[in-house]
Amino acid sequence: MPSHVAIIMDGNGRWAKQRGLPRIKGHETGAESVRAVLRACKKAGVHYLTLYAFSMENWIRPKEEIAGLMSLLSRFLRKNAHELHENNIRLRVIGRIEDLPAPVRKELLRVIDETKDYDEGQLILALSYGSRAELVEAVKKIAGEVKDGSLSVEDIAEETISQHLYAPDVPDPDLMIRTSGEMRLSNFLLWQLSYAELYVTDVFWPDFREEQFAQALESYARRHRRFGDVK
Ligand code: FPP
Repeated sequence: MPSHVAIIMDGNGRWAKQRGLPRIKGHETGAESVRAVLRACKKAGVHYLTLYAFSMENWIRPKEEIAGLMSLLSRFLRKNAHELHENNIRLRVIGRIEDLPAPVRKELLRVIDETKDYDEGQLILALSYGSRAELVEAVKKIAGEVKDGSLSVEDIAEETISQHLYAPDVPDPDLMIRTSGEMRLSNFLLWQLSYAELYVTDVFWPDFREEQFAQALESYARRHRRFGDVK
C-alpha cells in the first residue's frame, strides 16, 4: 500500500464539455471526486494525499473560471471541514498561498490551524503551486544560509534540498495518478516524484471515484519497485 499518493486531477473541462455543461460544473463534480478519494484513502490506509488543485499556470485562465474555482474551494472547505475533524485529518497547502484571494486564504489558514495537530492522515492541497518555483525558493533559502554562515557549501546534500521545500517532513509520493490520459508532469512535484510509480488513466477526474482509485492501488501493488537496484 502506498503511504503517499499524489494526484493530477485533470479532465474536468472535457467532462463538462462532453455533457454540454459549463466548465465549472466539471470542477464542482470534481470536488465530489475529491471527497470520494479522501474517504477511500482512509479506508485503504493511505496516510498522505496530495492534490494538484490549482497550478501557478492556471492563473492565465479566464477570470470567471478562476473566480468559480476559488469560490468552489471556499465552499468545499466550509462543507467538508467537519469531516477532517471527525477523521483526525490534517489539512496543509503547498504553493504560493499568498497569491490566493483573501477570503479563500483566510478559510484555508483557519482550517489548517484547526487541524494542525491531527495525525490520522494528511490532505495536502497544491494551490498556486509550481514545482520549479518551489525549487527556486528552496535554492534562495539555502543560498541565504550559506551567505549568513549557518550552512557550508560542502554540507549541501539531497536532504538539504528536500528540507527546504514547502512540506519538508512529508515523505515523497509512492504513487502519482493522473486522470484524463495526459502523459505529463505539468510542473508537479518534480523533485519529490523521482522514484514514484506513475499511473495514468483515461477517466476524467469527475468520474474518478472509489472504484477507479482501487484500480490504481491494485496496479501499484503489482509493481516491483527497485529504486535503481537489480533485485
Ligand atoms: C483540471 O481540469 C482541474 C483543475 C484545474 C482544477 C481542479 C479542481 C477541482 C477538482 C475542484 C475542487 C478541488 C478541491 C480541492 C475542492 P481542467 O479544467 O484542466 O480540464 P480540461 O483539461 O479537460 O480542460
